[in-house]
Amino acid sequence: MGTGTMGALNIATNTGPSTGGPTDYIGIENTDGPAPRGMPIVPLTTDDEGYLKGVWPETTVREYPDGSTATVTAEDIGNVTYSGRWFQYCGIQTAAGLEPEADQDNFLRSSPGLFDWQADIEPGTKLTLEHLDDYEEWQGPVGSAGAGKAAQATWRSEAGEGEEVKQLPVQVLRSPAVSDLPDGHEHGAFLEAATEADCIAWLDKCTHFCCTPGFNSFPDAPKFGAADAVYCQCHQSVYDPLSPVALSFNAFPRPD
Ligand code: FES
Repeated sequence: MGTGTMGALNIATNTGPSTGGPTDYIGIENTDGPAPRGMPIVPLTTDDEGYLKGVWPETTVREYPDGSTATVTAEDIGNVTYSGRWFQYCGIQTAAGLEPEADQDNFLRSSPGLFDWQADIEPGTKLTLEHLDDYEEWQGPVGSAGAGKAAQATWRSEAGEGEEVKQLPVQVLRSPAVSDLPDGHEHGAFLEAATEADCIAWLDKCTHFCCTPGFNSFPDAPKFGAADAVYCQCHQSVYDPLSPVALSFNAFPRPD
């Protein structure tokens, strides 16, 4: 069944206020290891000053035949239905930032640990394109020079005073190859809209057991053919950030 048809059926047959269920999405391809599917893309944009932001889909209140309602997020981006459901797995479905109307500004904020170069940036600093400016010659610890430079960030994870929230980890890769992704791709219009200045981003939660994979970062990645890929060191899953694919999964419902 085509992924578009599946999405239409889901809406047409949904009779209750469910915020989970069968969900089509665009993700970076899982190419090896036990992970069942790719990790969902986070569409990107920048503001006037070059700060990177993840796009949060439009919020609407949906009414159901039984009279109940649910607030949902869904937006058409390049003929793809982009929704908050894309991220509802691995416990992330309970994150406050996934509430449709969460008070968040959508900036990607630096989250050091995975990439040594980010140790020089104060945690929580808003990431800009400038932080990744040297991407065309960047040499990561295990991959090829010029394959791209990645950063680890949090998204929609800002907490109030004295408050702790579950974080949404996002990885962003700036690579010369990103601008070629829309060419001839069946979802080229989506990729054109979802990438920005040679940058592509995804929710960085391994779809196997929810570890945090990294692009060009873990020393054992080359042993598994993943020197220039996204590698999960927990059980050796590999993802190709330069191969976006259409996928489906059963999203967990949000608690409310
Ligand atoms: S491969 Fe098992 S958690 Fe990533």
